[in-house]
Amino acid sequence: MIHGRALATAAVALALTACERKPAPGSPPGPGAAGEPILLGLVASLTGSEATFGDSSDKGIRLAVDEVNAAGGVKGRRLAVKTYDDQGKAEEASVAATRLVVQDRAAVLLGEVASSLSLAMAPIADAKGVPMISPSSTNPRVTVDDEGKVRPFVFRVCFTDPFQGMVMARFAREKLGLGKVAILRDVKNAYSVGLADYFLSRFTELGGTVVDDQSYKAGDPDFKAQLTAIKGKGPEAVYIPGYYGDVGLIARQARELGMKQTLLGGDGWDSARLFEIGGHALEGSYFSNLYSPDDPAPRIQEFVAKYRARHGVVPDSLAAQAYDAARIAADAMARAPDLSGTAIRDALAATRGYPGVTGVITIDEHHDAVKPAVVLEVRGGAARWVATIEADARK
Ligand code: PHE
Repeated sequence: MIHGRALATAAVALALTACERKPAPGSPPGPGAAGEPILLGLVASLTGSEATFGDSSDKGIRLAVDEVNAAGGVKGRRLAVKTYDDQGKAEEASVAATRLVVQDRAAVLLGEVASSLSLAMAPIADAKGVPMISPSSTNPRVTVDDEGKVRPFVFRVCFTDPFQGMVMARFAREKLGLGKVAILRDVKNAYSVGLADYFLSRFTELGGTVVDDQSYKAGDPDFKAQLTAIKGKGPEAVYIPGYYGDVGLIARQARELGMKQTLLGGDGWDSARLFEIGGHALEGSYFSNLYSPDDPAPRIQEFVAKYRARHGVVPDSLAAQAYDAARIAADAMARAPDLSGTAIRDALAATRGYPGVTGVITIDEHHDAVKPAVVLEVRGGAARWVATIEADARK
């Protein structure tokens, strides 16, 4: 008993000292004391059906942080990274974001990849006043809320889906000469639903017809009912703006049903796992993306070489985007007068012409990056670059 009470008293005393060192209640979380590393907090899917998204993002960020530290760090302090696995689940992403800000005192949140998960993190970044940079979430609502207000602390370093949808609509109409397309969208995924809508409206505007628009839910094992319906409408191609795991299965089941249509998609296809799951069924498909490691541009080839040396694999777009997000965070922190959330936020908002691996990054008034897109073709079990579409094609 006595022993127990003594322990309890000791615990209270400890808690009090800990409190004294903490900032006054209500003061914004911040990046820790001088001398301690500045923490970047990554929220990512290291396990689950989108595990390659998180794994690549983590690897890209680690390369960026090593380089920044080798060059002297930021304001004389080292950068550190802490990654929490959200298993590809929105609830886990919001718990992880809160923990990184409140408990770990991250200066900047990085993540998520999936738009639905970034949407779960964004209100936390705003409420806590800690800047968040999504490397690769493309749904417009990530940075601009439902009322059309720019979220003050949320940024992205990639383009958005109205542009990406237009890129594939134009490619399908103008380069492939397609007139009749069907859509198969993941109805539980904000990215998929948005991209399907943007594609649909642009493809129709360009004189094409969408002959069917079917739905699935991520993780469904069987897509044959939807594919049979689509087959009956006789489209020339099927647009599937989903994530790689489902897309690989959909492609195989389409071929099993004897469908020869060209399959089209977006950045969510980007994973080496896509080819393991979909195999030969994906040959001749096309998808839009944020970057291609085949791009001969020296900035890209230099990055590919560094990343391979560090991690032993070719960087996919998630790795390149996450690398850029971490470099942009470091650049903003270096330019900011201090490391408060507001100062970093203002510096991020002022990012103009930053030479990223994935293109020259300028943050616009919606906190989005304006950048070109690439179209890739699946050939010989790999995605190969076929076109780059400049950002001014948005207009
Ligand atoms: N753009 C996708 C989304 O918003 C995420 C993604 C980006 C997936 C790049 C793969 C490659 O959900």
